[in-house]
Amino acid sequence: MTEFASYPSLTGRRAFVTGGATGIGAAITRNLCHQGTAVCFLDIDHENGEALAEETGAQFAHVDVTDITALQDAIGDFGAVDILVNNVANDTRHDWRTLTSDDWDARFAVNLRPSFFAIQSVADGMIARGHGSIINIGSISWKVKHAAMPAYTTAKSAAHGLTRSFVRILGPAGVRVNTVMPGWVMTERQKTEHFDHEGAKQLAAAQPLRGLIAPEDAAALVAFLAADDSAMCTGQEFTIDGGWT
Ligand SMILES: NC(=O)c1ccc[n+]([C@@H]2O[C@H](COP(=O)([O-])OP(=O)(O)OC[C@H]3O[C@@H](n4cnc5c(N)ncnc54)[C@H](O)[C@@H]3O)[C@@H](O)[C@H]2O)c1
Repeated sequence: MTEFASYPSLTGRRAFVTGGATGIGAAITRNLCHQGTAVCFLDIDHENGEALAEETGAQFAHVDVTDITALQDAIGDFGAVDILVNNVANDTRHDWRTLTSDDWDARFAVNLRPSFFAIQSVADGMIARGHGSIINIGSISWKVKHAAMPAYTTAKSAAHGLTRSFVRILGPAGVRVNTVMPGWVMTERQKTEHFDHEGAKQLAAAQPLRGLIAPEDAAALVAFLAADDSAMCTGQEFTIDGGWT
């Protein structure tokens, strides 16, 4: 397995990760803990959250991000945050013909709203300390015109607007905001729910690089953006999709 880079500037930093119990969020949690970063992650998956906390030494908060008060309380309980990774999402497929306005709101309540309110919680502290890195996890799904989850793809496209909305607010204080846009990343959920024979064929046709993107590959990019090595990068989109888009 590839050994990923270590970043001295991440040692002793403090990171908050949403949706960190499984998938890409868990890989981000593992990577940052490996860097010597103090990590708190939240999730609704209690079992995997507890197990990952035990494995990595990260703090786990059982919080549903649709509850903004609980989200902001969890961030407040953790204390100073140097790195915020807005990772949580739910890509459950849905039919545009039958989606109700409640369904639409529920999907935005997971896939977009928590990111803004997490930034709201950490920004003043980052400004006061004169540094910080916020990473919003987007998706190439809207770019490749994925047709089976329009509320998700629309919310994910807004990650870019959210990132760029904060660049001038936070930049003068030394706080950076970037978007990471993954292609098809082989999390357990993708492998069990979506990556079948047909999916593999579609991926091979769409993605010029052979091989599959692992959650650890996406986490490595997040670590770079969290670290001072990317000190002059802000307001940008960093795509990890094997060349798909
Ligand atoms: N896996 C991919 O192929 C892929 C592709 C493009 C973008 N992304 C993006 O990467 C990020 C991580 O995706 P993933 O594939 O690892 O997702 P995942 O579904 O595997 O994991 C998401 C995590 O969020 C948690 N979660 C879901 N709803 C929650 C809620 N209401 N409150 C708290 N926690 C909740 C889940 O329990 C899970 O641990 C997301 O922003 C996603 O949009 C993933």
